[in-house]
Amino acid sequence: HTPADVKWLGTPIGELRRMPDCGGKLPPLKDVPGQHTVMIRTDVLGNNTVPIPYPAKFIDTWDNVHVKMPCSNGNLFPVEDEKKSRWDLIKETLSQKFTNVFEWKEAVLKYSASHAKKWDFSALDLYCNKVLEPDAEEHLFDCLLPDMVRLALRASELCTKPIPLLKRGMDHSITMSQEQVACLLANAFFCTFPRRNSRKTEYCNYPDINFFRLFEGSSSKKIEKLKTLMCYFKSITEQKPTGLVTFSRQRLDKPPNWKSSQTLLTRLHITCEGTIEDDGYGMLQVDFANKFVGGGVIGAGLVQEEIRFLINPELIISRLFTEALDDNECLIITGTEQYSKYTGYSQTYKWAGCQQDTTPSDGWRRRCTEIVAIDALQFRNFLEQFRSDKINRELNKAYCGFSRPEKDSQNLAAVATGNWGCGVFGGDTRLKALIQMLAAAEAGRDVAYFTFGDRQLMTDVHNMHSFLAQRNISVGDVYDLLGQYYSSVCKSCLSRRPDVSLYSFIYRQVSSSVAPDEPTRGFFPR
Ligand code: AR6
Repeated sequence: HTPADVKWLGTPIGELRRMPDCGGKLPPLKDVPGQHTVMIRTDVLGNNTVPIPYPAKFIDTWDNVHVKMPCSNGNLFPVEDEKKSRWDLIKETLSQKFTNVFEWKEAVLKYSASHAKKWDFSALDLYCNKVLEPDAEEHLFDCLLPDMVRLALRASELCTKPIPLLKRGMDHSITMSQEQVACLLANAFFCTFPRRNSRKTEYCNYPDINFFRLFEGSSSKKIEKLKTLMCYFKSITEQKPTGLVTFSRQRLDKPPNWKSSQTLLTRLHITCEGTIEDDGYGMLQVDFANKFVGGGVIGAGLVQEEIRFLINPELIISRLFTEALDDNECLIITGTEQYSKYTGYSQTYKWAGCQQDTTPSDGWRRRCTEIVAIDALQFRNFLEQFRSDKINRELNKAYCGFSRPEKDSQNLAAVATGNWGCGVFGGDTRLKALIQMLAAAEAGRDVAYFTFGDRQLMTDVHNMHSFLAQRNISVGDVYDLLGQYYSSVCKSCLSRRPDVSLYSFIYRQVSSSVAPDEPTRGFFPR
């Protein structure tokens, strides 16, 4: 047992590496065709000035390898026998002042006619009429919405370079300014992205981006989401952000040979207090993702991933161009800023005010906040996750997220993670903790693990980590033990849960393989 006043175990968190201290020098930021799309001028990146879009003039593309922009000439709608520019209609409609939600809705429906009949703006209505004080409502219609409209309508001036779609199998990065992200998000808010209102079309394998689902229903969750996002729009329209954000889709080509790995475990800090985003600053922070990144952020979801996307809304724009992640892929987002504080979780989530993010920036003018979206498998049957194909999948997914082949291990921050895949997705925390420790070790990174209040888990994972580390048990050995556990305990199991827990199985196997007269090192937890 761990005494009740003990809140953490293992390596003190202060000893783990964080950015910017641990990172080496970045190479100069430059556009590399086929690898890295940079949407701003890199030759005039001054401190505290808003980056300048590149190229100077809008390049219009309307194809299936780039985002179809609302301001494109290809964005047409039929009127009798003619085709008209939808962007002209959007500009005309949104430029008219609206004074209430009804007019606002009418405006959006004008240019979204074919889908919008079903759209419901109840949450928005509640937010404006029941939640906002009258003067705040006035401010919304008089100042904030017009500012957001102006920002959205600057799309062809700000986002001049075609934005590549990050499709399945691609290894590609996009770097854009926070101002460009804001412009795109304002467009998402006004639901202007063409072909993105129905999942039946060419974008069926992409997350939704137009915000109409945010406005529907009357749950208090939607109201809190609206408060959180409006705080973002208020901040960025009042003061233009000056940084950059990079979105990188990373594919794992050659998975490690887990079975033969001689790698030893890295260090572990484990705590039952704190969160990934607060206490894992400067570390590689894990997003417990959906393969459609952002999951239900625009719709009904409100757990770890959705909350992160709400408080760091720049993450949401990854949904515009990131096709669903495959088993061997992840999305890394560097440089997003936190604009809001929150309390609670899921049903009890509440927006708790604006936040000034003081995270330092790196050599590319990005906040040193690196978030990696990795989607765990969802398990309905508990035993299934112990099968070797599932374990391989999760190991490779985590490894894809954690490994940075181009970097020296000394320059890599620790991984800040927790119960990945073990909430909505139903995974076993003890197995997933072990899988993440193996993947982090193979990637050469330490781990800061946040158990989210679970003290027993903190003790159990710490004991297991110490047990394995003290005996120099390698990644390959643990992998082998996982395989043995499946074949000797899970395979023949008739009930829904195994009779012997994974950790007691490991303790037993390892202990019994030690010769009886060999002095035992450390302890043998039951
Ligand atoms: N810091 C540390 N741990 C946390 C935090 C936090 N901020 N928030 C939650 N946890 P879940 P999943 C712990 O259910 O199972 C979304 O809809 C807490 O113990 O979000 O991988 C995605 O879009 C919680 O139970 O992740 C996917 O569709 C646990 O982490 C789906 O959920 C798991 O959080 C992914 O579900």
